[in-house]
Amino acid sequence: MHEMLQIETARFVQRHLKPSDTKAIETLRSWLADPIRMAPLNLPARELDHDVVARYVAGFDGRDRHLVGILGKDDSMLLGYRLLEINRLHARATLHVLIGDPVMRRTGVLAETMIGFYDWLFGEAGVNKIVGDIVAGNEPALDRALKSGFVVEAHLKQELRDQNTGRFLDVVRVALLKDDWMNSRQNTLAGY
Ligand SMILES: CC(C)(COP(=O)(O)OP(=O)(O)OC[C@H]1O[C@@H](n2cnc3c(N)ncnc32)[C@H](O)[C@@H]1OP(=O)(O)O)[C@@H](O)C(=O)NCCC(=O)NCCS
Repeated sequence: MHEMLQIETARFVQRHLKPSDTKAIETLRSWLADPIRMAPLNLPARELDHDVVARYVAGFDGRDRHLVGILGKDDSMLLGYRLLEINRLHARATLHVLIGDPVMRRTGVLAETMIGFYDWLFGEAGVNKIVGDIVAGNEPALDRALKSGFVVEAHLKQELRDQNTGRFLDVVRVALLKDDWMNSRQNTLAGY
């Protein structure tokens, strides 16, 4: 693990999760077992032991693979995470996001944490392009991404198989370039 990320905002702390984060790992374990939470990520729900999830968390090296938790500042509850896989050859990161507690959705968790996160990603973490794959029809995620400055690069036909129904799903590929981040950053600060 390289230097641990730690960014504070008014309500939240963003930081790399580690295997010793017992409470956060329990929360993550409950999300991984929930088919409704896993559906937009197109992952099958899995009942996993605490140790298995802790080993999964340990597998993020903090260089090319990052699991960045978003925790409540007051109670250290895990509210969501950003998962990143960086291809160093191309300075390209693939991003997956989950705000795990539905009550916390649309309360500005991503909005509040994005400046620090993207500044770090395009700065210290050395990334030039972030790509995200959003299942077609996931309007909250697409809307959020477009507001953050991502643009649609492609509509990929039958890219994924739905883990519950077996149906093939289209994907909207979105991307944010380092060159474009400064503009979106300004817009975000201006409350756009
Ligand atoms: C998509 C998601 C990450 C957004 O995070 P969030 O913290 O709720 O987003 P914020 O509160 O910072 O931003 C709110 C904006 O996101 C979009 N949004 C969020 N929820 C929405 C909803 N239910 N319907 C429409 N737009 C929605 C809107 O643009 C909204 O702005 P508005 O309220 O001014 O209209 C979150 O809803 C989530 O975890 N969803 C399930 C997992 C998922 O879909 N992950 C993405 C897979 S690629």
